[in-house]
Amino acid sequence: MCGIVGYIGSRQASDVILSGLKRLEYRGYDSAGLAVLTRNGHVNVRRDAGKLSNLESLVAAQPVNGHIGIGHTRWATHGAPSQRNSHPHTGMNGRVVVVQNGIVENFIELKDELQAEGVVFASDTDTEVIAQLLERYVESGLPFLEAAQATLNRLEGSNAVVMLNRDDDRQLICARLGNAGGITLGIGDGEMFIASDIPAILEYTRQVVFLENRQMAVIDQRGYRVMHLTGEPISAEEHTIAWDPVSAAKGEYRHFMQKEIFEQPRAIVETLGGRIDFETGDVSLPEMNLTPELVNHLNKIIIVACGTSFYSGLVGKYLIESIARIPVEVEYASEFRYYHPIIDDRTAVLAITQSGETADTLAAMEQARQDGATLWTIVNAFGSQAMRVSDGYIAMHAGPEIGVASTKAFTTSIVDQYLLAVALGRLKGSCSAERARELIFDLTHLPDLAGRVLDHDAEYKELAHLFHKATDFLFIGRGINYPIALEGALKLKEISYIHAEGYPAGEMKHGPIALIDETLPIVAIATNDFLYDKMVSQIQQSKARGGIVIAVATEGNEAICNEADHVIYVPEASPLLAPIVNVIPLQLLAYHIAVWRGCDVDQPRNLAKSVTVE
Ligand code: AGP
Repeated sequence: MCGIVGYIGSRQASDVILSGLKRLEYRGYDSAGLAVLTRNGHVNVRRDAGKLSNLESLVAAQPVNGHIGIGHTRWATHGAPSQRNSHPHTGMNGRVVVVQNGIVENFIELKDELQAEGVVFASDTDTEVIAQLLERYVESGLPFLEAAQATLNRLEGSNAVVMLNRDDDRQLICARLGNAGGITLGIGDGEMFIASDIPAILEYTRQVVFLENRQMAVIDQRGYRVMHLTGEPISAEEHTIAWDPVSAAKGEYRHFMQKEIFEQPRAIVETLGGRIDFETGDVSLPEMNLTPELVNHLNKIIIVACGTSFYSGLVGKYLIESIARIPVEVEYASEFRYYHPIIDDRTAVLAITQSGETADTLAAMEQARQDGATLWTIVNAFGSQAMRVSDGYIAMHAGPEIGVASTKAFTTSIVDQYLLAVALGRLKGSCSAERARELIFDLTHLPDLAGRVLDHDAEYKELAHLFHKATDFLFIGRGINYPIALEGALKLKEISYIHAEGYPAGEMKHGPIALIDETLPIVAIATNDFLYDKMVSQIQQSKARGGIVIAVATEGNEAICNEADHVIYVPEASPLLAPIVNVIPLQLLAYHIAVWRGCDVDQPRNLAKSVTVE
């Protein structure tokens, strides 16, 4: 997924673009570039492979003056990360400049067509096809807007595109085709902004417009015009973003991931805010549009998600089936959309997605819509595509999550599923008012419990040092904590690059136990619940084979010290909320191991914050 910024106004465009790209760097960092149109109609392009800091150095050494420009940080899909493949891309005559996020699925066909007409390409990217096509239409005599429409209508695939015309310093044109990362218009006073994501423009404006699928916009210093690709005008809704710029910045933390781990108590408070009545146990989720008729008509819920959000859904299955007694299936979105799921109007499909822009998840939602399901989402990014296409949604209210490794979105999405389970149970009559009051009462302790885990950060840092040179890790858990074992493994592998696997503890004897020797650290989630004794048995089996066991156990449990090599204590929590408390030490363990290993915690290699390509 790439980051895009566009600007037109009275400021130096390069300043706005670099500042915006900095806040989008989590979206991709194989290369970065910008193009600024100077008053004398000259396009100045600066671009380089590598981190944004390379581009900043380039612009510092060779400044570009101008008040209209576009910029881009790249996560490579076509063409290796290199200077020649960095965006922006121009037509061969330099008349137009383009940046893009997504994939032009018919780029080979278009490239062949253009090359047959004598167009010479300078890169291996699909993006350059857009620039060359646009230039050809401009040079055919079409006005810029019509040339842009003609170009966009030739493209297949999901793309977000911003276009600049060397001979027109009064406007920029942008478009959103499909589910590729969004296009947000920032509305200023005598200036306009374009960005892939809100954090890039928050320091300048909080008034925004979100482009929908197959919409385009023309922006100039006076404002914007949104239209269909046909040119038919659209009256777009303006939104005011509540986030403050500081909340999207690192503050005193070393990494965004660290900040977001420590924000979890507050994020949980935010996601509860205004939604629970402690007295009655009532849960208020107005954006879900739930009714007794709808809920009682349902005979199953299918949760679709990717990565960490998928593991959140595995926890949600336990919550919804236990509290609301509605059958729940949990599917990888990337699988769901290719196997013809059994769906009808008695099915609700719940998508869990932090970014609201994950291509596989959005495609699964489209499949569900076509098959007649009720479509819900639990989502963090306000105004994202997932939020807009759903029949009902629950906002995570976690605030901007910048670190590529998802943490506070994971825990708040579990809280949201807990709230949804109570709401569904009350409407279905499967959860009594008394039970709801107990469940809501348990929730009120959660922020404090999470905070108490974070108080032990220094211990996790020390424990991490013991294991930061490990080459493999195993995480095991049972029941509602099995997804936490999976999530702990994902956190570790994606930021430290150590191979790690999560496994249901009961499965160890069916194969994985062969892996155990004195070099293998095993994290065993063994907090107080009805499966504790089974977990102790697994720990004993692991120790008997020389394994090194790190147990996550409940405060006060001294006996576990006789079983495990290391013990991470967490406060007692209700079994249904224990996953949220138990995952935090694993987030911190992964974080500190990655830091000890000198890894790039916020921007792990090969990854991007939201995968907007399939
Ligand atoms: C989580 O740490 C990963 N970065 C990744 O698995 C992520 O959860 C997944 O790509 C889904 O993203 P989404 O929640 O924005 O849809």
